[in-house]
Amino acid sequence: MIKSETKDRVARIRFDRIDKKNALTAQMYAQLGAALAAAEADPQVRAVLLHGTAECFTSGNDVGDFLKRPAGGTPPAKALFDVLPQMAKPVVAAVGGPAVGIGSTLLLHCDLVYAAPNARFQLPFVPLGIVPEFGSTYLLPMLAGYQRAAELLLLGQPFTAQKAYEAGIVTAVVPQENLLAEAEKCAITLASLPPESIRLTKRLMKARHGPALAATIEEEMRVFSERLSSPEAKEAMSAFLEKRKPDFSRF
Ligand code: COA
Repeated sequence: MIKSETKDRVARIRFDRIDKKNALTAQMYAQLGAALAAAEADPQVRAVLLHGTAECFTSGNDVGDFLKRPAGGTPPAKALFDVLPQMAKPVVAAVGGPAVGIGSTLLLHCDLVYAAPNARFQLPFVPLGIVPEFGSTYLLPMLAGYQRAAELLLLGQPFTAQKAYEAGIVTAVVPQENLLAEAEKCAITLASLPPESIRLTKRLMKARHGPALAATIEEEMRVFSERLSSPEAKEAMSAFLEKRKPDFSRF
């Protein structure tokens, strides 16, 4: 589930499904989109803090949900795609433990990202037989350079907080015991600064890329949706749920 509370003019939005490593279901995407939209609309809120626990950010989309999704149609994650990139208010993320799939790609839309040394990022779209989403094929090459992005997106292997920092995904690596406090301090500082100036600066930084990013998200969504019903994706995802190694040798 997604939990949300506002304190010190900061909306704290938390992933809360720890028995499944905070894997995101359709219902959680809807709750997350709604919580972000509510924070954006609430005049009491000046910054958003997105977090899980210091041991787990989120393991990304629920893999079982991927397999159940009917071909075509609107992906549940669209509830997040439509809101997070448009946020005028600053968004801070605190990442400890797994940040897999959309758990990594959503960070590309946050403004400040703090990670603990135990953070474990992964963009496993290719190993899952699908393609990256949420504008990551546009934003990551821009942030990290093509070759570094290609390593992370084509191989899809887990990588450390230090590597995420070097790729430009993370603002700073902070000790695990200080993770939530550091991110919270930063969100409270943002909330104390002139709000219109913050919003205008954010808009100026992002405006040029807006149309290209929106077009990439659309295109990725289309290809992603096609790939979900591919034999490669079915083999990869069933293997995860059956706790076995996938076998792509017949493709
Ligand atoms: N979707 C559905 N279930 C998930 C999940 C996901 N994304 N991530 C974890 N889970 C479930 C596991 O199946 C397991 O369920 P069980 O207790 O009923 O067996 C439980 O959460 C704990 O996960 P487990 O794999 O045992 O934890 P771990 O600490 O060994 O590994 C991860 C954590 C995140 C590295 C690993 O769970 C993983 O790789 N998850 C899949 C991530 C993924 O592919 N996401 C989609 C991205 S597009």
